[in-house]
Amino acid sequence: MPQRHIPQSKTTHADTPNKTLQAKTDDSTATFTFTVNGSSQTLSLDPRTTLLDALREHLHLTGTKKGCDHGQCGACTVHVNGRRVNSCLCFAAACDGDTITTIEGIGEVEALHPLQAAFVECDGYQCGYCTAGQLMSAVALLDEPIGASDDDVREAMSGNLCRCGAYQNIVSAIQSVRANKPSSK
Ligand code: FES
Ligand code: FES
Repeated sequence: MPQRHIPQSKTTHADTPNKTLQAKTDDSTATFTFTVNGSSQTLSLDPRTTLLDALREHLHLTGTKKGCDHGQCGACTVHVNGRRVNSCLCFAAACDGDTITTIEGIGEVEALHPLQAAFVECDGYQCGYCTAGQLMSAVALLDEPIGASDDDVREAMSGNLCRCGAYQNIVSAIQSVRANKPSSK
């Protein structure tokens, strides 16, 4: 049974070293620019707006899902500068100058990311609500120094919950891609 905690490899943006708030703010708005899936985006929002809400409500990138909105489920996982984060725990304005990747940025219908193809092949989802977050964590995990076993993958993915209980098939999908990944050595 997965434990409900954020794995060490998943951070809130506040954990990023040397990060200072660069966005211009006045009493009611913060103006900031970041790159999302390769496109520069400038937004002026309430400085309390989360990265999750900025992506979904203002950039209409609704592939990233809101589950708990409290850092407990991982449905909102995106990459900030290549690291997986829970976007519900990040202020969008704190991402000024950052590079964001969402589920819309990792593959196309006609050119799936290998993990997307593996989730289909291994039946790694049921309702699909958690799937975008699972995939974003899994993509990041491919470049993280975790062990080779299924238990290592379960631990690394323990911040992503699946109410449908597709865990074993998710692990199978991830392991199938890891097995085919060229060694970096
Ligand atoms: S919606 Fe962000 S962790 Fe659940
Ligand atoms: S597939 Fe339904 S919550 Fe995971």
